[in-house]
Amino acid sequence: MSESLFIRACRKEPIERTPLWMMRQAGRYLPEYRAVRAKSDFLTMCRTPELAAEVTLQPIRRFGFDAAVIFSDIMIPLEPLGFGVSFGERGPSIAHPLRQASDVPTGIPDGFEEQVAFVYRSIELVRQELPEDVPVLGFAGAPFTLASYLIEGGGSKSYAETKTFFYHQPEAAHRLLGLLADAVGRHLVAQVNAGAGAVQLFDSWAGVLSEQEYRVWALPYVQRAMRVVADAQVPRILFTLNAAHLYSALAEVEAEALGIDWRTPMGQAFDLLGDRFALQGNLDPTVLLGTPDQVSAEVRRVLSGVGGRRGHIMNLGHGVLPPTPIANVETLVRAVADFKGEG
Ligand code: CP3
Repeated sequence: MSESLFIRACRKEPIERTPLWMMRQAGRYLPEYRAVRAKSDFLTMCRTPELAAEVTLQPIRRFGFDAAVIFSDIMIPLEPLGFGVSFGERGPSIAHPLRQASDVPTGIPDGFEEQVAFVYRSIELVRQELPEDVPVLGFAGAPFTLASYLIEGGGSKSYAETKTFFYHQPEAAHRLLGLLADAVGRHLVAQVNAGAGAVQLFDSWAGVLSEQEYRVWALPYVQRAMRVVADAQVPRILFTLNAAHLYSALAEVEAEALGIDWRTPMGQAFDLLGDRFALQGNLDPTVLLGTPDQVSAEVRRVLSGVGGRRGHIMNLGHGVLPPTPIANVETLVRAVADFKGEG
């Protein structure tokens, strides 16, 4: 696996070409995904290793991406912790949201990993099919983001329920976040043991916190999860959406790479964070709804901003959107391969 461009970029080693993958690359913008999805619901796909492996491999076959993110969801490890999860038109929902201190699980149940073993089996199947130099990327949700789903019961604009719980039940909130950190840490370790060559924590909603609150409710638990997986010796990536105001806190994260959303110019992100971390990003996913010329121009703008510095993994600034035309993804792949930048 040491030959992988993606892993070498995570380690900030010199490489001959910029590696590329897309967050949410296995998904509804692909007709071959929609064909599988037409016959199975989303959770069944996650729980059936043959289906999960198939849709994980689809974007690799079509576009030759440099990493294969395992098909699963950040909500999956919440079920063995005792929460009923379902997926509807507007995303995930929790059957009985967590609203009281007594709703916080007392511990990680015995057999936690066995109950989500389908994820590990999916990784093993994907590993068998992939060229050796394409790593499987394991992932999990970061504790704050998962806690917000548990408490809100789904997505939210204001995170009022989450913050109400945190303010009124701080001790229970910290117990919940600690439990989630240990659970996702163990889930990442098990994914590495199954063959994942790198892992990513998604803190999609931590951007709603001020820096001061991020340091109380999010950062310590990102650190705790990252420490659990440290011994596995694979690159650890943290993606935080809407995080430009959190960079001084993110600079302390125990990780090898940080995901940068599209709002910050890549050159600026490298100036602020590039000494310690490889950086991943950051084409605006909505650019892929534009014209091919706009896609090429924006790719060149992102790569020029990087300016040939070591430790860049090309990606979107958030997940690819379902209406994205395939031709624009092909243009993205070609534009990254063709870029002959400065430096
Ligand atoms: O290709 C990949 O990146 C691998 C699979 C993956 C999914 N979800 C599959 C999925 C990954 C890495 C995730 C992570 C995830 N899930 C995040 C973090 C990334 C982010 O976007 O910020 C979050 C917040 C979730 C929770 C979640 N799951 C939401 C908000 C939704 C609904 C929105 C949507 O895109 O439908 C899901 C459902 C989901 N997860 C789908 C897929 C392919 C769509 C399900 C379907 O086919 O109907």
